Amino acid sequence: MKNYFIDTHSHIDMIEDVELDSIINGAKEVGVEKIIIPAANESSFEPMLEICSKFENVYCMLGIFPEEVKTWSDKTEEKIINLAKSNDKVVGIGEIGLDYYWDTSFTALQKQIFIKQIEIANELKLPIAVHDREAHKDTFDIITKYNKGSDVLLHCFSGSVEFARECIKAGFYLALGGVVTFKNAKKMKEVAIDMPLERLMLETDAPYLAPVPYRGKTNQPKYIPIIAQEIANLRNTNVEEIAKYTTENAEKVFKI
Ligand code: NI
Repeated sequence: MKNYFIDTHSHIDMIEDVELDSIINGAKEVGVEKIIIPAANESSFEPMLEICSKFENVYCMLGIFPEEVKTWSDKTEEKIINLAKSNDKVVGIGEIGLDYYWDTSFTALQKQIFIKQIEIANELKLPIAVHDREAHKDTFDIITKYNKGSDVLLHCFSGSVEFARECIKAGFYLALGGVVTFKNAKKMKEVAIDMPLERLMLETDAPYLAPVPYRGKTNQPKYIPIIAQEIANLRNTNVEEIAKYTTENAEKVFKI
């Protein structure tokens, strides 16, 4: 039987140089059967939902990315809640979180909107997909303090083995992507080897962070098997095992 994968974090709405049909079919051909699109900002909601209604195997998440929190208003909250309640293709709240890499001039607002969106996810009983860049401690502290019952997926995990263990202990899931194939990504390779498969998911974060040998090019969901193969090699196991666990985890958390 062919392996069956899920790309849990793929901005296919942002891929400009490949047709949507070709993205979805190319993914299916290599066993990437389901794709979840995370939102970046409010203007991405409608186009994402349109893609979801066109392709039965594509799902989405709603949320405001940390760099976009200045656009937040009460209307944003209303919109997220209404769209999530009226559309069964909305399977999570994301991507939300903290990013201290680009700009640290509004971290207080980032935290405030992150907390707000965790509360919305709790109310809607949806999982959260979290973006954490150079903000490990604050991200962890906010989730453990404010999250009441939503499953947590740390997307594009970038912490150390020690931080990964802390997150696993707290019950979080971690998603690994193309970075794990980079030659110099020692930390990520260590995490891929150390973490339990019961907590692992796969993602491309397309169109960014394409795996080797496509590094620097447009990333696509069809590269998920390359990431899975790399993790299998690192763990001295077969790709079937990686597919089985990561797909089961994604289906359970996102109810897809
Ligand atoms: Ni993303």
